[in-house]
Amino acid sequence: MIRAETVVRGGTVVEAGWSAPADVFIAEGRVTALAVPGTPAPRGVTEIDAAGLLVLPGGVDPHCHVGFTSGEFTSLDDYAQCTTAAVFGGTTTIVDFAIPRPGENPADVAYTQRAKAGQGLCDSALHACVTEWDETVPGQLGALVADGVATVKMFTTYRGETMANEDTILRTMKTLRDLGGMVVIHCEADHLIEDAQTRCAADGAIGAEHMAATRPELAETASVAEVLAIAESLRAPVYFVHQSTAEAVELVAAARRRGVRAFSESVAHHLILDDTRYGGAAPERFVCCPPLRPRPAVDALSRHLFTGEITTIGSDHCCYDLAQKRSRRTDVRAMPNGLPGVETRLPVIFSAYVAGGGLPASRFVALTSANPARANGLYPRKGTLMPGADADLAIWDPAAQWQVTSDALHMATDYTPYEGMLLTGRPRTVLVGGRVVVHDDVLLDPTPRGRHLPAGPILV
Ligand code: URP
Ligand code: ZN
Ligand code: ZN
Ligand code: ZN
Repeated sequence: MIRAETVVRGGTVVEAGWSAPADVFIAEGRVTALAVPGTPAPRGVTEIDAAGLLVLPGGVDPHCHVGFTSGEFTSLDDYAQCTTAAVFGGTTTIVDFAIPRPGENPADVAYTQRAKAGQGLCDSALHACVTEWDETVPGQLGALVADGVATVKMFTTYRGETMANEDTILRTMKTLRDLGGMVVIHCEADHLIEDAQTRCAADGAIGAEHMAATRPELAETASVAEVLAIAESLRAPVYFVHQSTAEAVELVAAARRRGVRAFSESVAHHLILDDTRYGGAAPERFVCCPPLRPRPAVDALSRHLFTGEITTIGSDHCCYDLAQKRSRRTDVRAMPNGLPGVETRLPVIFSAYVAGGGLPASRFVALTSANPARANGLYPRKGTLMPGADADLAIWDPAAQWQVTSDALHMATDYTPYEGMLLTGRPRTVLVGGRVVVHDDVLLDPTPRGRHLPAGPILV
């Protein structure tokens, strides 16, 4: 008899690469078996009926800013609230960032942030961040990788805040290569952005409605090319966060064909929304970096979901409220950048691309769960329902029709960029470590049981 305390019966299990009718047996927080439907279970198990539903490994969000301070603004959530929203949206693992303020030390900031994992309703992992090189950085990175923080965020923009110069990028990449870690990088060439912003400001066109023109696509392309050259020359792995254009993704794909270990992350808002939002009401709700792009660019980017050239989909969740977004809306250079999205990532992508776009559900799982787990050294504990994996499940109703309203969401803000959108598909029941945490949009278990997940080998 297969060991089980809980069995999820009658659903279609969807993994990266396959799907099939199967029952999921769960004991002590882990999957014990994927079994032929109807396989007998021990007496007294809890049975969860998943007939007509998809049984997915819970989402892994590889790009999530929790309580992030940038300039004069701090995003409004903590681990408890961010992970609550995540679980409502079917995501059961988040990867947060520990980003030093000028003068702070990367390792200290990472250890402080890591200590918050216990406040979460689900597990979390962490990207450290290097902004400046000094002789202590290799030692800090060695300690961090040994302690399970193996991915390090870098930026080629946000001068005076988190931007790193090319020497720092090269040295950090080389150090991490030797340690078995990986740089994850935000690429927008800051000199091109500053020039565009200066021109826009001279024309009196620097408000939120002009966001797209202040951060041109070329700035992203140029920076990706530069960073790829560093990675190729060092033979180091590199992961590009929130790539917003097909050109940027194609540069990475071409490098991969030459043998470079380079990977593309795209984020939900760049795959769903376009730059016409800056011409509509309250454009500050859509101010993010890189900005939303024109519809043809969104379509070109999204085609790469189907070809496998995009490796992961994140949210780039960053929870500011309308008052914060409005407060500097006349000058994007001073605005808080970023959109709330940890809760909506899976539903908006499922609706647009699986329900509405012909993307196989197994590819959806690869992009939103398995590949993010692999890229962050969390696989096969996360990102799969194979025996031995943590029993984090999103039992998904692929036919549910619903309308997004910020009032019904759980993020620490008062708006959503998807307000009013009609979606198909949503999580019905979400299990974390084998416990039902959310069912039919009700939080059944608010107990914080989050753990920090140490990164194992990076598998992309
Ligand atoms: O606009 C964005 N993306 N804000 C969050 C910080 C970052 O650059 O990822
Ligand atoms: Zn970024
Ligand atoms: Zn204007
Ligand atoms: Zn980000």
